[in-house]
Amino acid sequence: MPNLHTQDPFFPDAFVWGAATASAQIEGGWNQDGRGPSIWDVFCRQEGNVLNGDTTSQACDFYNRWHDDIALMSQMGLQAFRFSISWSRVFPDGTGEINQAGLDFYSQLVDALLANGIRPYVTLYHWDLPQALQLKGGWLNRDIADWFTRYTETLVQCLGDRVKDWITFNEPQIFLGFGYSDGTHAPGVSLPHEEVFQAAHHVNLAHGRATKKIREFVKDAKVGIAIATKIGIPADEHDPAHIEAARKATIHPEWKDGSDKHTTYLNNAWWPDPMIHGRYPEILEKHLPGFLDQFPASDMEEICQPLDFFGYNYYFGIVVEPADNEKGWQALPEQAGEPRTMIGWPVHPSGLYWASRFFYDAYQLPLYVFENGLSSMDWVDTEGNVKDHHRIDFLTRYLAQYSRAHEDNIPLAGYFHWSLMDNFEWAQGYRERFGLIHVDYQTLKRTPKESAIWYQKVIQSNGKHL
Ligand code: NOJ
Repeated sequence: MPNLHTQDPFFPDAFVWGAATASAQIEGGWNQDGRGPSIWDVFCRQEGNVLNGDTTSQACDFYNRWHDDIALMSQMGLQAFRFSISWSRVFPDGTGEINQAGLDFYSQLVDALLANGIRPYVTLYHWDLPQALQLKGGWLNRDIADWFTRYTETLVQCLGDRVKDWITFNEPQIFLGFGYSDGTHAPGVSLPHEEVFQAAHHVNLAHGRATKKIREFVKDAKVGIAIATKIGIPADEHDPAHIEAARKATIHPEWKDGSDKHTTYLNNAWWPDPMIHGRYPEILEKHLPGFLDQFPASDMEEICQPLDFFGYNYYFGIVVEPADNEKGWQALPEQAGEPRTMIGWPVHPSGLYWASRFFYDAYQLPLYVFENGLSSMDWVDTEGNVKDHHRIDFLTRYLAQYSRAHEDNIPLAGYFHWSLMDNFEWAQGYRERFGLIHVDYQTLKRTPKESAIWYQKVIQSNGKHL
């Protein structure tokens, strides 16, 4: 594990400290008040898709307990809460009739957050597509860009007077790479590259049109994305050749076929390059010659809209060194006894520094970490406490590295912990616990973990109390 950065961490004055969640992972109430089913509601009910047959039906029951959960957020001193909208709660069929009760839920949630001094950050799409739209082809159907724009318009009309921070998409890499390529996430299909890239293009188009729509209705809006990260970490931080190898691993796309093909989509460039630079990486034309000819040339102008921030989610990276191969880098083998979190991911704090540096160099936008955290072996002890020492140590290390980016004058806008509370971890079901708040899924009782108390002090001191 790379060293803990030793300087006193510090963050910009206007830095925002928050916690993040997503609708399918916390809300439950899957058929309450007129909500329609999403692809995850369907996927988790098909045998073998989700560990232990866990489902989204109840999740943390946030849909019915949000008042109490906001009280816990407030106790923690959270400055911001990132949540996503369940599209099928607002439009049960994805398009057509609005479900007013669903829209009201989000409106009341926003009011209550603001009343508690917590700034709402809304993610428009965090993977739970209405099943009705999946039946029409989902992200493979070009009309989805219009469906998504209508959905966005409805939300900004309703919430835009109070919500100023909008994230169009969360991790397109994952919902397409896992959902459309290797089939381990909803909707569970495994398509050839050509079709996955069609879906990717539609996501990009939907992003561009939605961004325009947000600006039309919310003059002081801040808009951006939250991408997943494949981060190269230089094996030797002091060697410029290693740094360049790590930058390539982070920014330059690789192409993989066969059983590993979903990893092609993990590359960062497929989304921010068209959104921010107005072009796809050249490697696309090399592997799928003429692919872009099927789309109107005007698509790229629609996709490439000015953005206010670049958001990324970071958990771990790949430690690399320069190599004499086509990519210019190779991954170092795993070290014996390397520390790992419960889900099996390695602990790589310095990736938070390198990611910030590489993304700022490439895209020149203020940065948000919209997710960072770990799944750990948490339970309520005999005294009623959750002593998650690992989480505190993990965050201390990661935040110190993030602060290092601030020392380099990289504009950092905020940090959101994943997650506010333990929740439905997609195909892993409820086994993984990523929360600052423990959830007992039998009783739905919430128990703030020791890390929640620690995080409160971090927030109060703007990161000095690490
Ligand atoms: C990224 C995803 O956005 C989130 O939904 C997931 O729970 C976390 N990573 C942890 O895997």
